[in-house]
Amino acid sequence: MVKTISPLLQEIMEQPQVIRHLLQTEAGRVSEVAGRIRDRGIEFTFIAARGTSDNAATYAKYVFGSINHLAVALAAPSLFTLYKSPPRLTQALVMGISQSGQSPDIVAVLRQGRRQGALTVAITNEGDSPLARAAEYTLLCRAGEEKSVAATKTYTTQLALLALLSAELNGEESMLKELKSLPSHLEKVLSLDEVIREYSQRYRYAERFVVIGRGYNYATALEIALKLKETSHIVAEPYSAADFWHGPIAMVERDLPVIMIAPRGSTLVEMQRLAKKVGSRGAELMIISDDEKMLELAHLPLKVPVSVPEVFSPLLYVMAGQLLAYHVASIKGYDPAHPRGLRKVTLTR
Ligand code: F6R
Repeated sequence: MVKTISPLLQEIMEQPQVIRHLLQTEAGRVSEVAGRIRDRGIEFTFIAARGTSDNAATYAKYVFGSINHLAVALAAPSLFTLYKSPPRLTQALVMGISQSGQSPDIVAVLRQGRRQGALTVAITNEGDSPLARAAEYTLLCRAGEEKSVAATKTYTTQLALLALLSAELNGEESMLKELKSLPSHLEKVLSLDEVIREYSQRYRYAERFVVIGRGYNYATALEIALKLKETSHIVAEPYSAADFWHGPIAMVERDLPVIMIAPRGSTLVEMQRLAKKVGSRGAELMIISDDEKMLELAHLPLKVPVSVPEVFSPLLYVMAGQLLAYHVASIKGYDPAHPRGLRKVTLTR
């Protein structure tokens, strides 16, 4: 009997190829949008998104902040739809991120931004969607159809577009060069599949998780926790390592599964300090890292076989989390591609 591969696993595995294609085909458009942003002298960005796409918006906050010194605010769409009292956006870059481009509340933010005369940009996988029509400019994810309800390749393509836009805005040649080698780095991360599958056995009966990241990889913590929740129905709580000290650390007890995302870079020392504390309280630590010293603190070390500049690490590290969510769901007997009670497109107002 031929065993069919789950669409979720297939889409996870497709990511290096999809991103290679994206970087080849969308670079010109991204460069044009970067030019418009520069011409308008824009100093802050206002981003509307939901779910996984909102986690991409969190990544944008760190990338645009650190590379371009652009302030980023994440929108509260209810101000536009339910309270009917939107903020002033004329001077902003108003961005909507959505793989489907369909949610009415996200579209409403873009329409209002455009009405006020702001520069509007949609990042979406659907060129013919209400979001794309609402925005002046559209950057396409070009990920192909995403069959699984759980978003994977549309998320990493959103991240790649945001990183590319950030690099283009500053004319960062070294960043643009590094981006070109990203697909081959992503391929190496897929080699972790077997060890992740083995580790997943430990989580057959797990019902709660804590997922911690910092800086660029706060977005990764949010996204891995979301993937665990929707595919395995696990209560997975995401935290920034800094916020974790401010109260949540009190809940750590023996055997609590904690996942830490800790690549080399500016956040590593602080991640190490927290790992030592959480480990000393008996939590079961899975650490995803490319740093040997950091990995020594883990019960379940997951060594990422390649090091990239920290700004790109979320693309690599989230793939390990996607694989984890896939295997944990499978081991628990769920269909990871079709989470309970969810549809591919969620419309919120
Ligand atoms: C997560 C997931 C949802 C969507 C959210 C936004 O895997 O699929 O959280 O990310 O419903 O959807 P879009 O991006 O279509 O607006």
